[in-house]
Amino acid sequence: MTTDNTRVLIKNGKTVNEDEIVNQDVYIEDGIIKQLGRNLSVPAGTRVIDAQGKFVIPGGIDPHTHCEFEFMHTTTVDDFYHATKGAVAGGTTMLIDFISPKLEESLVDAYLSYRKKADSKVCCDFSFHSIVRRWHDKIPEEMAEVCSKHGINSFKMFMTYPTFMLDDSELYLIFENCKKLGALAMIHAENGSIIKKNSERLLSKGITGPEGHELSRNEEVESEAVNRACTLAHQVDCPLYIVHMMSKQAVSALKDARERGCQAMGETLAAALGCDGNELKHSCFQHSAGHLVSPPLRSDRTTPEALMRSLAANDLQLTGSDNCTFNKTQKELGLNDFTKIPNGVNGVEDRMSVTWEKGVHAGIIDPCRFVAVTSTNAAKAFNVYPKKGCIKVGSDADVVVWNPNKTRTISAKTHHQAVDFNIFEGMVCHGVPEYVLVRGNVCVDNGEVKVVKGLGKYVETPVYSPYIYNKENFSKMVKPIK
Ligand code: URP
Ligand code: ZN
Ligand code: ZN
Ligand code: ZN
Repeated sequence: MTTDNTRVLIKNGKTVNEDEIVNQDVYIEDGIIKQLGRNLSVPAGTRVIDAQGKFVIPGGIDPHTHCEFEFMHTTTVDDFYHATKGAVAGGTTMLIDFISPKLEESLVDAYLSYRKKADSKVCCDFSFHSIVRRWHDKIPEEMAEVCSKHGINSFKMFMTYPTFMLDDSELYLIFENCKKLGALAMIHAENGSIIKKNSERLLSKGITGPEGHELSRNEEVESEAVNRACTLAHQVDCPLYIVHMMSKQAVSALKDARERGCQAMGETLAAALGCDGNELKHSCFQHSAGHLVSPPLRSDRTTPEALMRSLAANDLQLTGSDNCTFNKTQKELGLNDFTKIPNGVNGVEDRMSVTWEKGVHAGIIDPCRFVAVTSTNAAKAFNVYPKKGCIKVGSDADVVVWNPNKTRTISAKTHHQAVDFNIFEGMVCHGVPEYVLVRGNVCVDNGEVKVVKGLGKYVETPVYSPYIYNKENFSKMVKPIK
């Protein structure tokens, strides 16, 4: 009998959604979940995957990656092929990358150029946020066009980095435009003016190594910007998504803003859950510079667990990777000056495992919350729920058979990404994606990675997400969990 791979039955497992775990089988046909339950009747020839003792979870959605990103005089080494290959190997079936327009380029041209780079390479589904790096008269028109014609519903702005940084009045105008369009504003919250002054002072004192990075931008530098971004967004009643929240003080500023009525949600990173900032003091430059990301990993060793507890309490809602990878030679651009080290770390492949290990295996979150913070909340925020982000009849069959009893050891020697370093090197993670289905295609098959270049599809993200632009739903999504 031949096996028809467009039909798959995942038997004997427990499905996990954000709100419940159910003992049921999953029948998939033509890329869609068609039936749920036990003793399903399915056509002869259907491929059967046994999930006895395993969880069947929605594929991860990584809301924060930077593939082929031109940044700090170089380009990230993980292109759309290697990043999506790593994603799938780790149990992520969709990523949302950031379009970074060149300085004089329109948002529309930048979108078209990113599609050209991505479409033939992606191994999983993808969509885009657009970075707005400067303000001028045409920006409202360009923002409107990428929303209405190209399925983009989110814009990221920066409060630091010399060639990206916007001032308060520019942020105000862009937030106002996001609100007009029904889009979600995203913010990199750090005070760029303080960082500039502190960096000059540190360099003049001879502090040139990666350890200078955190010294130039301590927690207060992050939390001040979180508070300011929330205030600006609240003034124009614009929903806000704060990317890569890395410190206790930043989370506390976000909670305070929410209590004042600001509609803001927060993402932290796999890097921040799995590592701390003491790595920046390591004597090996590749190691220390390899951990350099903005905002920085914090030297307060209690930070990773505190951030996981913030996810558990719903003070934070999502985990991203901020996968923004540079090889040793690229990091060496800042060998004698930490301000020139390209900022960024890996995580697209390991986000799911690290979050499981530090969250579920550590007993801080349950599998339902794991699904919420690695998949469902991203699907809701970016308006692709329930097509993505859940195991439901009618949803895309982006499904992972997750074995909580198996372990794997993370290493740059075995990962599927292009980068030559892994910040989680040597970490033993319980929780292994044994099967990963991208719209019904078995792309990890009993642990064997069988991705297909170009298989991924661009997913439009319509404006006015009902989970963002309906205040009741939004409040539910950020409601504290006691
Ligand atoms: O250090 C980081 N985070 N690099 C990527 C660019 C950004 O700020 O997201
Ligand atoms: Zn950023
Ligand atoms: Zn080292
Ligand atoms: Zn980023």
